[in-house]
Amino acid sequence: MMRGVSPQGGHYYPAFPYTSYARMRAGDVADLWAWLHTLPSEAREIPPHALRFPYENRRLLGAWKRRFLRPGPVVGVSGGEDVARGQYLVEGPGHCGACHTPRTALGGSDLSRWLAGAEALEGPDGVAAPNITPASPFIAEAGIDEIAAALIPAETHAQAHTWGEGMEAVRRNLAHLPASDRRAIAAYLKAIAPRE
Ligand code: HEC
Repeated sequence: MMRGVSPQGGHYYPAFPYTSYARMRAGDVADLWAWLHTLPSEAREIPPHALRFPYENRRLLGAWKRRFLRPGPVVGVSGGEDVARGQYLVEGPGHCGACHTPRTALGGSDLSRWLAGAEALEGPDGVAAPNITPASPFIAEAGIDEIAAALIPAETHAQAHTWGEGMEAVRRNLAHLPASDRRAIAAYLKAIAPRE
């Protein structure tokens, strides 16, 4: 999870967001492993990857990783404990940048435009992920509680948000976090530098 290497020693494709998980604490990854082992096992055929040259060559991923696998913090940000907690959640396990940060021509996150919004990952019908830095009027103007409320599915809170489906799976999962973690995420989003 933290280096994108399979148990057999091969490189994983970065569709598995290990460039974010590289920032997780090892103890949290270990807890996740323990939890996965509580799930019932299920047999399922996984189709092989259908990738075109040169992407089917996993060895090229080594060079890609040397460039894009950066376990350190993405941005410098000042603030209290809640901002630090939000930074851990957003830059690490939350992998928010995987969708909300545009990519370079080589497919790595363009960290100079961290969380500045990106095209839909899944083709022309997909919903683009909006800017979630304070350059967005929503992040700049809404309070911590309002942003935190936007991180859970719309039916579970008072203001009906009319955003598309893109974020819904993420919201269903964020709804399981303690409310203090969603507030920490909101505090971090308000504390980072605005990026157009
Ligand atoms: C799988 C891609 C994906 C991931 C991962 C993701 N988002 Fe999103 N997010 C979207 C898309 C697409 C939208 C716009 C559509 C929607 O809101 O449903 C969105 C919308 C949002 C909005 C509303 C912004 C606005 O102005 O309307 C916020 C806030 C947000 N995301 C925060 C986060 C945070 C924080 C994380 C990490 C915990 C995260 N997102 C992870 C795809 C993603």
